[in-house]
Amino acid sequence: MNKSTLERLVKAAGAARMFAYAPYSGFPVGAAVLTAKGKIYTGCNVEAASSGATCCAERTAIYKAVSEGDTEIVAVCCLADTDEPLAPCGICRQVIMEWGPEIEVVMANTKGETRVMPIGDLLPAAFTRNDLSK
Ligand code: THU
Repeated sequence: MNKSTLERLVKAAGAARMFAYAPYSGFPVGAAVLTAKGKIYTGCNVEAASSGATCCAERTAIYKAVSEGDTEIVAVCCLADTDEPLAPCGICRQVIMEWGPEIEVVMANTKGETRVMPIGDLLPAAFTRNDLSK
């Protein structure tokens, strides 16, 4: 991924983080999804009093893209105020993997630090749709 695309994604994730609804954890997260069309979909974490109903920022952004028929996901960026660039949780890794092992995951923090890895490396030996086809 080139530098300007990375910067656009990080900026979009940072802006989306401002909308986080995180009254329980106090941990706002922003995300941005880039699709093959060049569109960016943003998301934030949305918590609920029943904590299991919480949706992470990454999934909010992915569900926005997919629900608009834009399923060719190229990259997913997630950003929070963490010491190290934010690594996506296990559930989000599984959901990102649904759209392909080559998807670039841009992990970022509010200090401007980034780390980029393909989802296939972040979720090795993944359970995928291929396992259901037997
Ligand atoms: N969270 C995300 O939105 N993305 C991550 O990658 C890690 C965790 C949210 C879920 C919850 O609202 C809060 O952060 C604390 O776990």
